[in-house]
Amino acid sequence: MSTIRIAIDGPSGAGKSTLAREAAAALGFLYVDTGAIYRSIGLYMHENSIDPSDERAVAAVLPALQVELRYDDSGRQRMFLNSRDVSEEIRLPEISRYASSVSALPAVRSYLLEFQRELARKNNVIMDGRDIGTVVLPDAEVKIFLSASAEVRAERRCRELEERGTPQSFQDVFHDIKERDWRDTHRDAAPLRQAEDAMLLDTSALDFQESREALLKIIRERTGL
Ligand code: DC
Repeated sequence: MSTIRIAIDGPSGAGKSTLAREAAAALGFLYVDTGAIYRSIGLYMHENSIDPSDERAVAAVLPALQVELRYDDSGRQRMFLNSRDVSEEIRLPEISRYASSVSALPAVRSYLLEFQRELARKNNVIMDGRDIGTVVLPDAEVKIFLSASAEVRAERRCRELEERGTPQSFQDVFHDIKERDWRDTHRDAAPLRQAEDAMLLDTSALDFQESREALLKIIRERTGL
């Protein structure tokens, strides 16, 4: 039996993870946060003092890396790197930069491609990332490009960092987001872009509940669920 695949792409801080997780819970789908996979690889490079932009060095250690997705009792995705739970560490700002660098490497992207597709073959999924609708699941049943202005995304990220106990100034976060947007959209390997057949959902003017409802409405209309 074929599975239902929902691809959600968009820039960092657009609320993809939280919204996709909520929608997956409402529909009984598996939620896959692919950014967390790139972050885990970035963390490994950071911990092992490997230059995350050195493709040969990164590619050489990929076979030694065991990346696993597990789900806790409340359905939250946890990331395991060589059997160690790294779900919290991968969220540190330093690791965001490493994740962005390794994600620009074709060797890393092709290494992860089949891993991601396999998850979508076995489960009904809501998968979020940057290239899910364009590269990973080009024939997904539903494709959504979730976005918000850079200012709104920076404000949301600031609140998130504060709640995690690692606050940062708005200026730093805003600068980081702009820089990451640029890198994600200008890289050669699977750059961030809206798939031609993706629906655009801009949440700049929406609060969380409104965004959640808008997202579920699109999914339900497209799948008949
Ligand atoms: O969504 P995020 O911020 O956790 O993603 C971390 C980094 O990984 C970000 O720089 C973009 C990159 N990424 C990617 O290139 N492709 C994906 N499918 C998911 C994330």
